[in-house]
Amino acid sequence: DQAKAETGSRFSFTEVEAGVDADHHVAEGYDADVLLRWGDPLFVDAPEFDPNAQTAEKQRRQFGYNNDYVGYIPLPDAEDPSSHGLLVVNHEYTNEHLMFPGIVTIVDGKPQVAEATQDRIDIEMAAHGGTIVEIRKVEGKWQVVKDSPYNRRITADTEMEITGPAAGHHRLRTVADETGTKVLGTINNCAGGVTPWGTYMMAEENFHGYFLGELPEGHTEAENYKRYGVPDGTYDWGKFYDRFDVSKEPNEPNRFGWMVEVDPFDPNSVPRKRTALGRFKHEGAESIVAKDGRVVFYLGDDERFDYVYKFVTAGAFAEGDREANMNLLDEGTLYVARFDEDGSVTWMKLVHGEGPLTAENGFESQADILIETRRAADLLGATKMDRPEDIEPNGTNGRVYVMLTNNTRRKEDQVDAANPRAENAFGHIIEIAEAEGDFAAESGTWEVLLQCGDPSVAEVGATFSTSTTENGWFGMPDNCAVDSDGRLWVSTDGNSPKATGRTDGLWAVDTEGEARATSKLFYRVPVGAEMCGPLVLDDMETMFVAVQHPADGGDDWPEFGRPSYYEDLSTRWPDFRDDMPTRPSVVVITRQGGGKIAV
Ligand code: FEO
Ligand code: CA
Ligand code: CA
Ligand code: CA
Repeated sequence: DQAKAETGSRFSFTEVEAGVDADHHVAEGYDADVLLRWGDPLFVDAPEFDPNAQTAEKQRRQFGYNNDYVGYIPLPDAEDPSSHGLLVVNHEYTNEHLMFPGIVTIVDGKPQVAEATQDRIDIEMAAHGGTIVEIRKVEGKWQVVKDSPYNRRITADTEMEITGPAAGHHRLRTVADETGTKVLGTINNCAGGVTPWGTYMMAEENFHGYFLGELPEGHTEAENYKRYGVPDGTYDWGKFYDRFDVSKEPNEPNRFGWMVEVDPFDPNSVPRKRTALGRFKHEGAESIVAKDGRVVFYLGDDERFDYVYKFVTAGAFAEGDREANMNLLDEGTLYVARFDEDGSVTWMKLVHGEGPLTAENGFESQADILIETRRAADLLGATKMDRPEDIEPNGTNGRVYVMLTNNTRRKEDQVDAANPRAENAFGHIIEIAEAEGDFAAESGTWEVLLQCGDPSVAEVGATFSTSTTENGWFGMPDNCAVDSDGRLWVSTDGNSPKATGRTDGLWAVDTEGEARATSKLFYRVPVGAEMCGPLVLDDMETMFVAVQHPADGGDDWPEFGRPSYYEDLSTRWPDFRDDMPTRPSVVVITRQGGGKIAV
């Protein structure tokens, strides 16, 4: 009844106890089954995973590492769209110390990783990218369909096409590709999205880490690369592949940091880097069809003091006409957000020739604005945010939820209404209401839904509702999902024994009525892991979550003994076998005996 709906939580389940241990935990009455683990064969002829005999060739036929975004696209001929479809999964990055046996030694009490070899780098590159795999529910349990013609691995070597306004631009041309339209691979694919026309969006996030070397003296890209932190040298790929060494191939970094669109129904389709959506550390691209049929994509740039964006297609979505929608992402308007003190938000256009986005400021064309999206947004005076992560539109209430994970570098004199805490260790969530409920609007209003952290510590300034239990609060919101009842689910990155006395997990967060800002713990990950996904299928009977890098965390987990390296891991989830490393995995959650989740 109405009164109850306005006062009570919309989620019904018995909360999990927050804590830290070697296993994962889901609310009572639910099953959490591992569906896909790093190394699982994706094809009938793919080899079984053997951690001591891994090769790049095998890895290209197996599930990749560090599953992050999880999307689902029903098969057109499925009897029940929520029981048979394609699972699309990003493989964000690799943790070599957890992947390769024997490469860590302790020198003077400190762990040291062995120098990279080409074989190891090739495996890392093959473990990046994405997976498309057919799955189906049989008698209540989900299975992987290994003989599906749709199954596919995308890696850091897959050939891709660059499309849209920056395609072919001279700043995108390299020795290997003088057209500026062909690029190999996608990297650091964090969150993502599935478009209304059933394609898979992969966000290229921290691409700077894959480049090393020094730009030639006085190079014209120096200022551009500085704004993006390129090169960073986290990975050693550039020691074996010239394109990841900016001293040898100075334009290659301009070919990363884009949104990639993949047609999952053609396993030979060439993925497309859609330059119209800008170049930055893309977190995700969740979308919704606006009232007039244009499609709106919400985009976060995950860096301290970077921005919230949205892209509105020029053309309208044509329901049922897949071909007509296939190039919608090459034309449209990119906007960046300014959050004002009076509670209004203005979406400012990034269009060549408008305002300061002119040749005098070094933007010769729209291509320059897209290649240096951050500098263009700086000039427009966009609001510098506390690390924008996943952003999710909610079609049932017309609102948009923005995860801001943390920013410990914000100083007292840098706080503003939309980023109200200095040294923001635990992050917050902003709720936007677009003008007149129109997602394509150029303005709207906003408020802080929730400041995260431990509500029992006054200085933290957390704003969970008083009905939130000691298990229910969390820090560092990262990925999120809105289910078909319009309820918000938030997964986290950064909770640990030291930071919050708990692992990461998945929390159900009320947004409506008296229960607004009430949070409850539904699932938590093993020690050292991070929580990704999440996704609730339309019938609300299946949820997918992704567990990244269990056992990671090194010295951060003293209560679990030695640092978590392969020879002495703090957990061997999910196999719990001495001869198996810990493995990132996609987990499927269903209600025992069937039925809708948390209803
Ligand atoms: Fe890969 Fe922004 O988290
Ligand atoms: Ca993320
Ligand atoms: Ca999401
Ligand atoms: Ca993350």
